[in-house]
Amino acid sequence: KEERLWGGRFDSGKVHECLEKINKSIDIDQRLHKQDIEASVAYANGLRDAGILTKDETELIISGLEQESTFELIESDEDIHTAVERRLRRLVGPAAGKLHTGRSRNDQVATDTKLWLSDACKPLADNLVHLIKRMAERAEQEVDVLMPGYTHLQKAQPVRWSQWILSHAWALDADRLRLTQVAERTMSQCPLGSGALAGITHNSMHSVADRDFVAEFTFWCALTGVHLSRLAEDLLLHCSIGFVQMGPGLSTGSSLMPHKSNPDGVELVRAKGATLTGMCTSMLALLKGLPSTYNKDLQLDKSILFQAYDDLNLALELTFAVIDTLRVNSKKCVDELEPSMLATDLAYYLVHKGVPFREAHHKVGEVVKLAEKKGIEISGVTLKELQEICVEFDENVQKVWSFESSVEQYQAYGGTSKASVTKQINAIKQI
Ligand code: ARG
Repeated sequence: KEERLWGGRFDSGKVHECLEKINKSIDIDQRLHKQDIEASVAYANGLRDAGILTKDETELIISGLEQESTFELIESDEDIHTAVERRLRRLVGPAAGKLHTGRSRNDQVATDTKLWLSDACKPLADNLVHLIKRMAERAEQEVDVLMPGYTHLQKAQPVRWSQWILSHAWALDADRLRLTQVAERTMSQCPLGSGALAGITHNSMHSVADRDFVAEFTFWCALTGVHLSRLAEDLLLHCSIGFVQMGPGLSTGSSLMPHKSNPDGVELVRAKGATLTGMCTSMLALLKGLPSTYNKDLQLDKSILFQAYDDLNLALELTFAVIDTLRVNSKKCVDELEPSMLATDLAYYLVHKGVPFREAHHKVGEVVKLAEKKGIEISGVTLKELQEICVEFDENVQKVWSFESSVEQYQAYGGTSKASVTKQINAIKQI
């Protein structure tokens, strides 16, 4: 059995089995393997520049670190730093013991975690961009489909299906931008060289304690997870109404009801928004009230970080698969449009005749009330009846009853007209 890195001051090598178990982090932090080697190589070069290692020793150490033989963990490996140093000793002999001069696992783990996160942000950003662009392609493909837009889960005004999907794409685009900022801040300071707490950086005591980058990243995962959960919820509602249908392989069946096809995957994306929020809270709670510098509590940051990363990534990939193959039932989308969703347009019609909007709103409210009383659509109210409510109505009012004209009237950038939606699509293609 190998010596513990810190064994010298203890009489017997015996550590209580519970301490052994709670203290050990290798199962989780072996994911930092590549980064621990990378940072160790940089540190060896730093020690050479500082005159601690000779040129030969530095080369020996670096060749050992970079050797690509299989890396086998053994029972006594407490964490990845212990394991990397043990292996180095086996490969290059006692010179390995010089690498840790002035270094502590405190600055080492902070550095490794920053490197890991910086590396991990790239594929995550790629997955995000992949999804956003696919959403824009779907928007382009379905640009002529009209459907009800909802507020408070009640039918509100007609929109293009594309405007709906793009609304989610833009939320994710803001996440994409935020992720680049989180990645930049993660790498803005290097903790290596701080030692246990009395080293050489900007502020050594700060850099061994600082896990703001993990907290910020878990917040990012939580917010992006919340955005994905909103999309998931919309998809579930739209599936239920019949606007859309899951593509092949993206539904599961029921063990009892033979006819069922359930969008469980999307429900789980909705649920990840909850657990990711919990991970962000866990991370903040872990940091709250810790005294300065390194405390072993910080070791638990990595299980949170890795779990949040994996969950968010999987949620992104599943969402991509869903959007990629989603079937849009354009007939059902249009069938669900109702003339009452043009009540606002009827008010705008009066506004164009010079009626103040507040008054127009009130008059149209009376039209809605009358239609409700008669049990008909508002488009069925006769011109005579309309004129009794407001003299400004004339035969041109018929033009209001077009869903297509309704969505086309919003020509400003960000609006529902085909031209505006197309501009959004082109903007997303540029990212
Ligand atoms: N495994 C530890 C962690 O993940 C490494 C740092 C240990 N430092 C110490 N002084 N015991 O945080």
